Amino acid sequence: MPTLHVVDHPLLARELTVLRDAATGLEQFRAVLAVAAGVLAYEALRDIPVAQVTVRTPLEETTGTALGRPVMVIAVLRAGLGMVDGFLRLVPGAAVGHLGMRRNEATLQPEDYYESLPAGVAAATVFVVDPMLATGGSAVAALTRLERAGATDLRLVCLVAAPEGVAAVQQRFPQVPITVGAVDRELDERGYIRPGLGDAGDRIFGTE
Ligand code: PRP
Ligand code: URA
Repeated sequence: MPTLHVVDHPLLARELTVLRDAATGLEQFRAVLAVAAGVLAYEALRDIPVAQVTVRTPLEETTGTALGRPVMVIAVLRAGLGMVDGFLRLVPGAAVGHLGMRRNEATLQPEDYYESLPAGVAAATVFVVDPMLATGGSAVAALTRLERAGATDLRLVCLVAAPEGVAAVQQRFPQVPITVGAVDRELDERGYIRPGLGDAGDRIFGTE
C-alpha cells in the first residue's frame, strides 16, 4: 500500500489557494490553516486503530467503536502549531508534544532547540504535524527523535510538500504514512517549495 496520501478535496484545494495567496494576511492565514489542518486530520485519522465497545442505546445494547490507542499530536515548532487545533477539534483528548527545530538557512539543516513529549508515545498513534515538507530534513529529524523516544506508530501530516521532501522521508521511514494537501513542483535554490506559500512560520506569526 502506498504510504503517500495526497488529499483530494475541493474544500482543501480552496483553503490551500487562500494560503498560497501572498495577499492573505495574518488573521486569515491562521484561520484558514486551522480549517485545512482539520481536513488533513480527518483524512490522516481514517485508519487509526479502533476497538469494539458495547453501548446501550435507549432501546438495546449494541456494538460501537472507540479509539484503540491514544492519539498524540506532535507539533514541529513553530509552524506546526498552526495545525494542532485542526486535530484537537476531531480528537479533543489528544496529548500534544512539541519539537523545536529551525532550519539553518545556509545549510538547510534543522537545528534542535526544544523538546517536550507526552509520556506514553510508545503506546500511542503519533501524528507529527508541520505545514511544510521541503528538503525533508526537519521531518526526518522529528521522526528520528520520536523513534528514539520509543514511538512505533508514527504518521506525518503536512500541508504542502516538495517531491524531494517526500522522497527523503520515504527513504528513511518507508513505513510511515504521509498525508499531504499537495505535492508541489520543486524546491528552489534557497530550499523554498515552489510554488509553495512562502515561509509558513513567518506567515502564521507575523514575523515576515
Ligand atoms: C519550516 C517548516 C518546516 C521546515 C521545512 O520551519 O515549518 O519545519 O521549515 O523545511 P525542511 O523540510 O527543508 O526541513 P522553519 O525551520 O523555517 O522554522 P519556523 O517554523 O520556526 O519558521
Ligand atoms: N519552510 C517554509 O516555511 N516554506 C518553504 O517553502 C520551505 C521551508
